Amino acid sequence: MKKLTILTYPDERLKLPSIDVVSFDRKLEELTQDLIYTMKTSPGCVGIASPQVGVHRRIIVVDTSGSKHRENKVSHGLLVLVNPIIIQKEGEFTVREGCLSVPDYTGNVKRHYWIKVQAFDVKGNMLEFETEGFEAVVIQHEIDHLEGKLFLERLLSPKDLFRRKVYKS
Ligand code: NI
Repeated sequence: MKKLTILTYPDERLKLPSIDVVSFDRKLEELTQDLIYTMKTSPGCVGIASPQVGVHRRIIVVDTSGSKHRENKVSHGLLVLVNPIIIQKEGEFTVREGCLSVPDYTGNVKRHYWIKVQAFDVKGNMLEFETEGFEAVVIQHEIDHLEGKLFLERLLSPKDLFRRKVYKS
């Protein structure tokens, strides 16, 4: 397992759409292991999409189980979602998001509160599940990456962008 380099805004590669995974092979397994390792070793990170490391395949990893976010009500633990799609969605709310690819800012965006997701796991088994709140937000954020979209494009207004606090020791 290795920690992969995260592309950061305004890298043009973050704007490219990703393509479906067709082979559920050893290479896919290695890539997802590296994505998980990169997520786990990045402080505060709850999700990564494959294009953020320059691999434009439709793969996301998510883990909100340790998050103290106030909307963290449902968590499925570690999720590896291949070719994920949202097949149902309900409700809308405003939420503050951050992103490893936009390290200096957070922003307020609108997301669906509840979603039903279909995807494959790393072995190619089909998954279907519902989730809500923070986990639903993270999945929507990561799927956006697969379309070449950053949260910056979803800001409610220009004043909904905030510079991250820098904590000095
Ligand atoms: Ni992101």
